[in-house]
Amino acid sequence: MSFDRSIRIAPSILSADFASLGAEIRAVEAEGADWIHVDPMDGHFVPNLTIGPNVVAAIRPHVRTFMDVHLMIAPADPYIEAFAKAGADMITVHAEAGPHLHRTLQAIRATGAKAGVALNMTTPLAQIEHILDALDLILIMTINPGFGGQKFTHGMLDKIRAARAMVGDRPIHIEVDGGIDPLTAPLVAAAGANVLVAGSAVFRGGSIAEPGVYGRNIAALRMAAENAGAAA
Ligand code: DX5
Ligand code: ZN
Repeated sequence: MSFDRSIRIAPSILSADFASLGAEIRAVEAEGADWIHVDPMDGHFVPNLTIGPNVVAAIRPHVRTFMDVHLMIAPADPYIEAFAKAGADMITVHAEAGPHLHRTLQAIRATGAKAGVALNMTTPLAQIEHILDALDLILIMTINPGFGGQKFTHGMLDKIRAARAMVGDRPIHIEVDGGIDPLTAPLVAAAGANVLVAGSAVFRGGSIAEPGVYGRNIAALRMAAENAGAAA
């Protein structure tokens, strides 16, 4: 992956039809998705259970772009190898998920995957301030993780701006996740986010039988974000 700060729209397949994940992925990619965002949850770190490495491996052949895996599991360390073998391009762990974040990031990079850190809303950027060289992406949560369809938290805009300032010209993506839609996309893009995860705002109203809706939803997000980014 060559690095640049262009806007990437990353549909979260949490809002897709789980009975047809392969076809859903092919549909959103054909309709303009830049990355595919995958949300494993363990029923312990967050109050929901979703998918594990076997499902990630099963969907891998359908992903032609970039598979962005957001682990909402604690501890994450015992599963890193399995998600890497399953084909994750980016493995993002929560800073809150274990006591030795730097070791975890080293373990991710050792597999050949890119390493990301997700910060819950109450977790300060200071957690990662001194280890920026060890990471490829910062995921600023704009909801409490666990479920799609929640409302964006406007207080996170300051945190996004601070994260963008903190990374400077380092090759580190700023990703946002939770409540991103055409109204909030311009706000996060202007604040400095360049990877926008969106579940409901991409899959809403569409289906594999009607993929054009996905295309319109993705285009609306991209247009809103790119106009704001250009104005910022
Ligand atoms: C929730 C997940 C998100 C989720 C976002 O914990 O991390 O990726 O799918 O859903 P929306 O875009 O509907 O807020
Ligand atoms: Zn996510």
